[in-house]
Amino acid sequence: MHRRSLLSSALIAAWPAMAQEPGLREIAARRGITYGTAVHARLLESDAPYAASIAREAGILVPEGEGKWDSMQPDPGRFSLAEMEPILRFAARHGQTVRGHTLVWHTALPRWVWEANLTSASAEAMLEAHVAGSLALTRGRIADWDVANEVIGDPDLLPNQDMRDSIWYRALGDRFLDIAFHAARRADPACRLVLNEYGVEASWPRADEKRARVLRLLRRLLDRGVPVQALGIQAHMPLDQPFAPAPFARFLRDLRGMGLDVLLTELDVLEPADRPLRAEDIPARDAAVAERAYAVVSTAVAEGCRTVLTWGLADPYSWANLWPPARRPDGAEVRTLPLDRHFARKPFWHALARAFSGG
Ligand code: XIL
Repeated sequence: MHRRSLLSSALIAAWPAMAQEPGLREIAARRGITYGTAVHARLLESDAPYAASIAREAGILVPEGEGKWDSMQPDPGRFSLAEMEPILRFAARHGQTVRGHTLVWHTALPRWVWEANLTSASAEAMLEAHVAGSLALTRGRIADWDVANEVIGDPDLLPNQDMRDSIWYRALGDRFLDIAFHAARRADPACRLVLNEYGVEASWPRADEKRARVLRLLRRLLDRGVPVQALGIQAHMPLDQPFAPAPFARFLRDLRGMGLDVLLTELDVLEPADRPLRAEDIPARDAAVAERAYAVVSTAVAEGCRTVLTWGLADPYSWANLWPPARRPDGAEVRTLPLDRHFARKPFWHALARAFSGG
């Protein structure tokens, strides 16, 4: 109770300042761009300043975990929107859309899937049922789904094989994608069907190869009539990987040339976690993060990307605080997102505003 009233008075105190300037959703919308963020249902319901910032800044929401297999089909044949429903309700109240993430992935699977001893026939039946059952629940409420996520192998780990060695790939080869995308098209003819992938942004050989693998896969899928309509580019950008606009822009042009939409689906900028942190370094760190965000987003927008989501909005809620490769050993908070712990706008926010308004 006490905490609640503290939260709401903080919000009321901040409101006049926040109300003066439009949020990113509005700045982006002026140029026909949809900006939004990943959210946690639990926080939308329990953290008033968090919810206010999401309402103000985001035109589209994506559930950070609530659309994954273990949430959507926790037990065989039992499909549920229970975890996602608060996000759908919040979005409806605030004039936002919701995108879905993610139907087919190699992880976030419930134990009954791991223990299923898949054959090609049972894997096919399981994928079809999951896609059909999930989309039957979201049809008319979600018009954009990551049908498959992270299906390409990382060249450094799998030098001789394009595809990730997932349970789905092992059971079915590439065909698991045909099955999932066709099932999605049947279950929801109006939904945009997206393949989502990471590690395709940087300008170094590993990303060159991953881009080539993505293009080869998409070419194969399109040639055999698989209804994939867009590539979602996660854009978790480690700052210690080099970025140059040209190879990334060429990749986007190749995708658009194949008739595909491109989206940035999970943008954040990850600093190397092993450097000691000092308070006086924060302005320079924030500037470097913002510069990278601007470079990536302005390139994408110039190449026709019209949907941009960050993977969270304010630093304390970033997954990078928990994810081992990004998490700081000293326990300090990461500075990967557009807003700080007080929901104040960081240079990253201004970089997005500038990229969306074209200069
Ligand atoms: C992450 C979430 O942020 C975490 O909260 C969760 O515990 C694990 O998954 N790429 C993806 C996302 O496609 O689904 C991942 O999300 C982050 C990396």
